Amino acid sequence: MSSTEITGDSKVIVTNQPGIHEKLTEIVAKHIEHPSQKPIQTHTQQAFDEVNQIVQSFSGEIILDSCCGVGQSTRLLAKKNPNALVIGVDKSAHRINRNVDEVSREGEDGVVDNFHLVRADLNDFYRLVVAAKWPVSKHYILYPNPWPKAKHIQRRWHGSAVFPQIVALGDEIILRSNWQLYLQEFQVAAGIAGFFGGISEVNDEQPLTPFEAKYQASGQTCWQLTIVKS
Ligand SMILES: C[S@@+](CC[C@H](N)C(=O)[O-])C[C@H]1O[C@@H](n2cnc3c(N)ncnc32)[C@H](O)[C@@H]1O
Repeated sequence: MSSTEITGDSKVIVTNQPGIHEKLTEIVAKHIEHPSQKPIQTHTQQAFDEVNQIVQSFSGEIILDSCCGVGQSTRLLAKKNPNALVIGVDKSAHRINRNVDEVSREGEDGVVDNFHLVRADLNDFYRLVVAAKWPVSKHYILYPNPWPKAKHIQRRWHGSAVFPQIVALGDEIILRSNWQLYLQEFQVAAGIAGFFGGISEVNDEQPLTPFEAKYQASGQTCWQLTIVKS
């Protein structure tokens, strides 16, 4: 059985998987061979259409911050990359709206406004972004829900039907997790799709997200998989 333990104030992931999921290769191959035909939900199509207009009229690089939660990483990435347009996407209205209310937009050089937060389901949103050919330079996926039970493999991004579109996005993919096996599986899955990368410990001075801050405060190691395509 899968379970979790509490260490400090944050949960350490415990899984019933002894290693890489035994069906991972089969699942990824199936998704590469048979692209998802699921209809796009109306709310995600509308959210995409709005932000797509902004993206299409922008001439610089696009940074995609998937599963951005309250948008802290979106804002930080916008500050660090003043010439880029950063798009943060999360399906939770509660989290997305919190950012607007609580997180300051003040940067060192004035108001940081080179970002947009979008409420959308990435299972649909990713397909629309690929079809619209957004020029994504960096694609961040920071601390996605781990789904550590073996039977939930298809809820992890690398086990999902949209995985081929996920890895198609970005000259560089940056995936972080406090569960190393999640990154190892994603790394194997990306390899099947023809993309390769390495895993290292996160050693940033400033946590990029609230989840990263929480894990580090409770003594957990955070990991990063970096896939550079060119
Ligand atoms: C563990 S939280 C991490 C949030 C943030 N990146 C951080 O590190 O603080 C995972 C986030 O993924 C979002 N999420 C999960 N599935 C999603 C989907 N299909 N589309 C968009 N967002 C999703 C959740 O709403 C949640 O905010």
